[in-house]
Amino acid sequence: MKSIVLAITGASAMQIGERSIQLLLDNNKTVDLILSKGAYEVAKSERNINIPVDPKAQAVFWRNKLGVMTGKLTCYRWNDHSASIASGSHKTMGMVIAPCSMGTLGRIASGFSLDLIERCADVHLKENRKLIISPRESPLNLIHIENIRRLAMAGALIVPPIPAWYTNPKTIDEMIDFIVVRLFDSLGEDLNNVKRWEGPVK
Ligand SMILES: Cc1cc2nc3c(=O)[nH]c(=O)nc-3n(C[C@H](O)[C@H](O)[C@H](O)COP(=O)(O)O)c2cc1C
Repeated sequence: MKSIVLAITGASAMQIGERSIQLLLDNNKTVDLILSKGAYEVAKSERNINIPVDPKAQAVFWRNKLGVMTGKLTCYRWNDHSASIASGSHKTMGMVIAPCSMGTLGRIASGFSLDLIERCADVHLKENRKLIISPRESPLNLIHIENIRRLAMAGALIVPPIPAWYTNPKTIDEMIDFIVVRLFDSLGEDLNNVKRWEGPVK
């Protein structure tokens, strides 16, 4: 089965990345996971978790933390430039970057593939495959806006981590689920085992 590449970078809203891993595996998907160098720092600061950098140890860490044993999870170091997913010949279902920092976004927009996430994003654009980017910053300066525009022009789909208010969410988890479902709907991947909004209560 072709994999979904999931990248988590050093922007706030780490929980969106975590819930994405959990729901993808819960739905029996094959996931290639890359955390940027910045993501480890944000995880420590925002979530108080120390994520192992070693790929095998990290896969075990996520399995235990998220309590999901289904699906297939392969983790990569941010600087593993020789990984199979760094090549266009490795076919995927597409790539999601959530949350995406302005640093990663800017480097992708300028074709500056410094780490594996940026290289994979570059490959998805050049191969005309789906690339979903969820940029997290506020307020946005003109450079951010221009970079987002360039990526949209190059074929990326920009899906900001914005919750809906019309669903009347009662918890942060409900808001996160809404965002994660929208991300993977954009990729064309149905996530089950999660509540979807079915219109206003009548
Ligand atoms: C707790 C914390 C929250 C951050 N939140 C954001 C954010 O929401 N958006 C952003 O662009 N950068 C944010 N940053 C700054 C990035 O982590 C920093 O620019 C980093 O170099 C990005 O690296 P990366 O793009 O390789 O992940 C945050 C940093 C920390 C420590």
